[in-house]
Amino acid sequence: MAVVVRWIEPSDEAAWRRLWNGYLVFYAATVPEAVTAHTFARFLDPAAPIGCRVAVDGERVVGFATHVLHEGTWASAPLCYLEDLFVDEAVRGSGAGRALIDDLLALGRAAGWDRVYWHTYETNATARRLYDSYKPATGMIVYQVDLPKPDASAA
Ligand SMILES: CC(C)(COP(=O)(O)OP(=O)(O)OC[C@H]1O[C@@H](n2cnc3c(N)ncnc32)[C@H](O)[C@@H]1OP(=O)(O)O)[C@@H](O)C(=O)NCCC(=O)NCCS
Repeated sequence: MAVVVRWIEPSDEAAWRRLWNGYLVFYAATVPEAVTAHTFARFLDPAAPIGCRVAVDGERVVGFATHVLHEGTWASAPLCYLEDLFVDEAVRGSGAGRALIDDLLALGRAAGWDRVYWHTYETNATARRLYDSYKPATGMIVYQVDLPKPDASAA
């Protein structure tokens, strides 16, 4: 498979949503439609600090990587959080996941970001095989406290 990685485009919405739904199923998660729509809109907004790169095989979008750029206290250059990585189950093991990470690292080198970092579950052995080929995990443990969300029905 000859995968090309590029920025997401407006015409990719249906393909991205199909993959996004697969990603949510993988995590047994639900994201409100309003959030999904907002996320896609921000991908296309050059002023937003989030971005989406897609892996394309011919005409078919087969995977995506989303990232968030933010400031930090330990570096003056931007830090890049790779938030989501997903490849269509039908093409896994063909190099799309690695191509998406390599692409983000190349973007970061070119733009002068301080680092690219990401989280995964300790139990995600498939993803960790890929990630371990870049660097061993840092050993940092993630804590998370979810806060009350605004009432969507009031929006
Ligand atoms: C993790 C994921 C993105 C990897 O995508 P992919 O396109 O299959 O990855 P690649 O084909 O680039 O494989 C990368 C490496 O991982 C290894 N690998 C990937 N899938 C594997 C599998 N099922 N069994 C064994 N090794 C595997 C390969 O050895 C490959 O190494 P190589 O490049 O030296 O050959 C994909 O499995 C996925 O979408 N999983 C579900 C969602 C997920 O876990 N996302 C990450 C959340 S943090």
